[in-house]
Amino acid sequence: MCGIVAAVADRDIVPVLLEGLRKLEYRGYDSAGLALINENGLQRLRALGRVAELTAQVDETGAAGNTGIAHTRWATHGAPSERNAHPHISGGLAVVHNGIIENHEALRAHLKADGYEFTSDTDTEVVAHLIARELQTTPDFFTAVRASIARLQGAYAIAVLREVEPDRIIVAREGSPLLLGLSDAGNYAASDASALLQVTRRMVYLENGDCAELKRDNYRITRVDGTPVERPEKESQLSADAVELGAYRHYMQKEIFEQPAALSNTLEMLETAHSIQPGLFGADAEAMLKDVRQVLIIACGTSYHAGLVARYWLEAIAGISCAVEVASEYRYRDSVPDPQTLVVTISQSGETADTLAALQHAKALGMTRTLAICNVPESSLVRETALRFITRAGPEIGVASTKAFTTQLAALYLLTLVLAKSRGRLTVSHEAAELTALRHLPVAVAKVLELEPQIKAWAGHFATKQHALFLGRGRHYPIAMEGALKLKEISYIHAEAYAAGELKHGPLALVDKEMPVIAVAPNDALIEKLKSNLQEVRARGGELYVFADADSEMQASDGIHVLHLPEHYGALSALLHVVPLQLLSYHVALVRGTDVDKPRNLAKSVTVE
Ligand code: F6R
Repeated sequence: MCGIVAAVADRDIVPVLLEGLRKLEYRGYDSAGLALINENGLQRLRALGRVAELTAQVDETGAAGNTGIAHTRWATHGAPSERNAHPHISGGLAVVHNGIIENHEALRAHLKADGYEFTSDTDTEVVAHLIARELQTTPDFFTAVRASIARLQGAYAIAVLREVEPDRIIVAREGSPLLLGLSDAGNYAASDASALLQVTRRMVYLENGDCAELKRDNYRITRVDGTPVERPEKESQLSADAVELGAYRHYMQKEIFEQPAALSNTLEMLETAHSIQPGLFGADAEAMLKDVRQVLIIACGTSYHAGLVARYWLEAIAGISCAVEVASEYRYRDSVPDPQTLVVTISQSGETADTLAALQHAKALGMTRTLAICNVPESSLVRETALRFITRAGPEIGVASTKAFTTQLAALYLLTLVLAKSRGRLTVSHEAAELTALRHLPVAVAKVLELEPQIKAWAGHFATKQHALFLGRGRHYPIAMEGALKLKEISYIHAEAYAAGELKHGPLALVDKEMPVIAVAPNDALIEKLKSNLQEVRARGGELYVFADADSEMQASDGIHVLHLPEHYGALSALLHVVPLQLLSYHVALVRGTDVDKPRNLAKSVTVE
């Protein structure tokens, strides 16, 4: 949530800041702003709305400078407005901030008592005033910032500049991501590497509790108490194309169509493998997984849905009991820990505050067998677990998660097979068949994508609807949940998912001709049961949209629309059946004219509680 870019260089850095903000806009897009130091002193521009509004202001004013900080906001404290947009200013310094200062109210009261005036409703303005006050007794800028942030509670990444020191930016990180970008022509900082690829590939990832001073030709990192630390410099492998739209209209569309490649990258190691090895999850995996008694999966949103699918696999294939829990619930619940539990955290970003806190909670309860399934190798989550599996979906920019989900499922299926094997439940021939199915998965997904024209033709039917019901059974029930989440978040149609067998226990009351019902209907053991549930819907006048398999006998008829997926894919069918639901929500959103990649009120990476 919120994106930060900072730059101190030999050139005018305003174009770098704006391009960086455009790349980070997926993190928040309520308002944007920047602060510069130039021959006129400290200059601040802020705009309600998108980075484009800020760019227009830059064009109008001709703002330029060699040192600057910039921000794109997702509102937490204080409504989206120009006065709440960052940077916030106090006594000739400007601050941008990502995260939440939990003790901001107490700090605000002290600062007000000292005569500081607040012009916004944000927690960030507290940081600006704190540093300004500290500078009155601590003349060194870097020391004053460190002394100020030592008083903050909560999660933050900040960047600060000061009018009287035009060649210096101070940044700090605690809980929210921040990295440095190094180059011969200047130094930079940003919330993620994509913002800085325009100027450098040389990155230094800050750890929680790190502070850094950036100058044009050098930088140094210390802990909050001033102790110097070294962090390794890494060459970013991110390709600039990976964060460009290319021929696509939206990132979500691009990412849906990237799924075959994302899966094949994630499963690349299987190309030449003759067996599935625990080492896929880390060097210690074999020892750690050997006598695991149960699995606890913790995640949020779409990643949580991936966990729900995995529960069906883990229990049926590996014969291991599995619980799946929303991270924001688990972290505050009194639960019964078992040290022989494998705690699996799933996250695209690896920065989701609730997931990180839930992991810490599990560890504090003595559960040290922890695994992260994550798409960002440098993320906080990956650094905090004993085992890890990096999905190789590439950067996911669209706020609605798509390719991250299918690659998470692939990783979870591998975990299922590893656990099944370690528990003696995977025969050699079964293992060989699973390897073949996994290798063929990218092709199978690519064939499903060819259904796009038919799905697009259905989208118009949903344009004027207010509600939709998604049904599924077994491991396709979480797929129905994921379909409902996709539809509601990008088209704003209220959508709910039900296990089809639950229909008659209440939700059937909602069904009439205004309620489209989408059914995930693979040709598995539950198909006959599902067909009966669909008859219950049809009998009440509900319009059915059924995603069936090629070999199913489901046929279209009055009020029943059926699309056949090219092949039934056994246990892995969930990975295929989610794809038409992604495409459906995408095309419905297009018809309704919503902002597909930046749905209202949302942001990509939820680094606040
Ligand atoms: C929905 C979506 C969110 C995320 C959730 C967790 O399309 O993207 O529900 O899945 O915020 O995010 P990560 O996976 O980054 O932890």
